[in-house]
Amino acid sequence: MRAARKADDAGVALDVARIREDFPILKRLIHGKPLVYLDNAASTQKPAPVIEAMGHFYAAGYSNIHRGVYLLSEEATEAYESARKKVQEFVGARDSREIVFVRGTTEAINLVSHTWGRSNVNPGDEILVSGMEHHSNIVPWQILCQERGCRLVVIPIDDRGELIYEEFERLLSPRTRIVAVAHVSNALGTVNPIRRIVEAAHRQGVPVLVDGAQAVAHQPVDLQELGCDFYAFSGHKLYGPTGVGVLYGRAGLLEAMPPYQGGGDMIRSVTFEKTTYNEIPHKFEAGTPDIGGAVVLGAAIDYVEKIGLEAIAAHEADLLERATRFMESVPRVRIVGTAREKASVLSFAIEGIHPHDVGTVMDSEGIAIRAGHLCAQPVMERFGLPAIARASFGLYNSAEEVEVFARGIRKVLEVLG
Ligand SMILES: Cc1ncc(COP(=O)(O)O)c(C=O)c1O
Repeated sequence: MRAARKADDAGVALDVARIREDFPILKRLIHGKPLVYLDNAASTQKPAPVIEAMGHFYAAGYSNIHRGVYLLSEEATEAYESARKKVQEFVGARDSREIVFVRGTTEAINLVSHTWGRSNVNPGDEILVSGMEHHSNIVPWQILCQERGCRLVVIPIDDRGELIYEEFERLLSPRTRIVAVAHVSNALGTVNPIRRIVEAAHRQGVPVLVDGAQAVAHQPVDLQELGCDFYAFSGHKLYGPTGVGVLYGRAGLLEAMPPYQGGGDMIRSVTFEKTTYNEIPHKFEAGTPDIGGAVVLGAAIDYVEKIGLEAIAAHEADLLERATRFMESVPRVRIVGTAREKASVLSFAIEGIHPHDVGTVMDSEGIAIRAGHLCAQPVMERFGLPAIARASFGLYNSAEEVEVFARGIRKVLEVLG
């Protein structure tokens, strides 16, 4: 395996000890042991500036938005729209109107499948996804297929967990309506060649949706460079709050799409005879949104940008390499996902030991890892495993924690082996 970036490529090493001071939860003891949190792919912990931003907004700046004529509402509207601008700059979108606040990646993909899908997909059409998708980039398309009589076509993955690019090119056909792929796989850590996929799809006039849930916190994302048409991610995996996420969509596509939900704020005018819709992105933000969530997501973006995504990527690549090297040396361990480009995720199985038991023994040592199907059952099937265990790294994890992880694995083998 080659880690996505080498530690010193970024020039500056992270001051992890300092960063850890920002995360109050890392002071917790779990079963009497220091918490070693290695489930960052599921969700990340929150730094003090994010927690404080939440308190500050509700204590000093809260009201509903877009409708008040009073100062507090103007301030809250300004904070919400500034967060949109921040997201725009963070991912390199051309226009803040291309940033729609949603609940998370899941809702972003459902929004596209419901609105763009219903108006662009017809019987006999095909939706192309990869074999490494999270359920939230499979099921919304299956629902669309049931409704519209179209077909889900799957780009196979190889034994390393890489998308087979030649198969993708072969499957891309005049019937393909959209390609929907993960930027980084939550189960395998594979980084997909998005730009190449987008270029091939665009040559045939096919738009591409990218599930960026596992990418935005781990590497710089530049939508102009990727060139995709939709990009989805969640705030809670980016050191921000739950309940808020982002759908980026090209302005032209969003403008042509029908609304997702009907209600307040998404309209221009309503009579019982006819309703006209607001402009983008408001057309897709019916009802009172998670105002505080969006504002605090802005604080989370400030936090990671201050540290720097390049430096974060290099640091996590180093942790991943250390952990991988250790696991390669342990008998009976099978690493699941050995792609040449990987980010942050180390999934594994230990012969003869159920991943849930691995997770339980690790927990007794204070180490939080994930065990199960990781919301990616087709990946489990591809690798012939009912479940796997996963350690996933974040910016606050340290080399010492990788050693604690290694000791935990030795203990698993001692106790259950
Ligand atoms: C690749 C990927 N896509 C989508 C999701 C769904 O994200 P959310 O539950 O925040 O909507 C996840 C969450 O684990 C994920 O890893």
